[in-house]
Amino acid sequence: MWTKAVPAISLIGIVLSLPGPTKRYDGHSVLQILPKTIENVHQLIALSQKYHLDIWKSPRFLNDTFDVRVDPEQVISFVHDIESLGLKPTHWIKDVQKLIDEALPGRSRRATSFNIGAFNGHNSINTYLDSLSTNSRVSVHTMGHSYEGRTIKYVKISNNVGSGKKAIYADGGIHAREWLAVSTVLYMIDQMANNPSNDRTIEALLGKFDFYFAPVVNPDGYEYSRSHDRMWRKNRRPVQHGCTGVDLNRNFAYHWNPDNGGSHNPCEEVHSGTHAASEVETKVLQNFLCGNSNFIAYLNIHTYGQYWIYPWGYTPVLPADYRDLDHLGRAAATAIRHTHGTTFTVGEDTRVLYAAAGGADDYAKGACGVKYSYTVELRDTGRYGFVPPSSYIAPAGEETFAGFKAFATELVHYEHL
Ligand code: ARG
Ligand code: ZN
Repeated sequence: MWTKAVPAISLIGIVLSLPGPTKRYDGHSVLQILPKTIENVHQLIALSQKYHLDIWKSPRFLNDTFDVRVDPEQVISFVHDIESLGLKPTHWIKDVQKLIDEALPGRSRRATSFNIGAFNGHNSINTYLDSLSTNSRVSVHTMGHSYEGRTIKYVKISNNVGSGKKAIYADGGIHAREWLAVSTVLYMIDQMANNPSNDRTIEALLGKFDFYFAPVVNPDGYEYSRSHDRMWRKNRRPVQHGCTGVDLNRNFAYHWNPDNGGSHNPCEEVHSGTHAASEVETKVLQNFLCGNSNFIAYLNIHTYGQYWIYPWGYTPVLPADYRDLDHLGRAAATAIRHTHGTTFTVGEDTRVLYAAAGGADDYAKGACGVKYSYTVELRDTGRYGFVPPSSYIAPAGEETFAGFKAFATELVHYEHL
């Protein structure tokens, strides 16, 4: 994702379109294109930059699609340009605003009500997390505060038997618009804390690990994507006049480099920040990741694309222990496939086309020594992309949690824990 024009939000829009986000995407298309060559990928990126388009997904491997949002004024000439490259769209979301509106019925509108089957606001998520502290397995903590002062909370889930257990940490919402990542972490919290179906695997895993979850690590961006702009990705710090926000997943202080898949330009979607860990949310997460020497695994959860991928993001050189990471990633992907048939690609970094430096996964592994560090890109592969309906919340939660349990179970065996 490289550039995006940011029109001023009109006051009329704010009044008329409540309670949905005020910025509208009527008639915006998302075109999905299958590049034939690596050169095609570069041509598509160059074209998207020329038109200032919002790249939803850039292929990580050949045979993988390039997804881009195009506004109605530009779509005819953009399609003409890609056709002259010998390419044509294979899937076409015709009206992004319609998808946004469709997700609203399941979006919890009142700030105080929490609904596990809906996309909840940050306040109600925090209220829900606090309510879990009556559960003897759950303790609720503050990781830190965002730029706008919101409380970034995490929960620890433990059976409180034994001490010094290895720990697994998962978080969501580092990218604001990826609501399904947030709902999925909440789903996993509910399962681990309450074990509603008396799953023996959960009990067994609690005998081996402590679990940590943070559903919303970029709460300012998340709230902004709910109230103003469904497509918001970054945090909300005003960096420069007229341009707000840093891509937190380009801002981490391990081989930070805006020229490597990020950007120096604060107006762009992948702005890496003015320096490594320039953002308070990044610092909060860095301190948390390095602050617990028991962490053995970290999942930084995103949407979309269906990948379970591992470092390094900053270089195609594989870490020495990549076979271990690959093995456990495959255990997760297999369990996911057996749940609802969803196929995840486990990242072989040698096949990654584009590096992106400054990611949370690289930091956890490189700076904090968390061996099993992953980026998990949830469903789908572009049918709804960043704007899934609320009917995705349950199946995405189920399959991801199945993958999570299989991953953790295999980790016990593989590391002889
Ligand atoms: N979609 C994620 C992003 O663009 C992928 C991150 C993968 N990890 C990395 N360190 N590049 O932020
Ligand atoms: Zn993301």
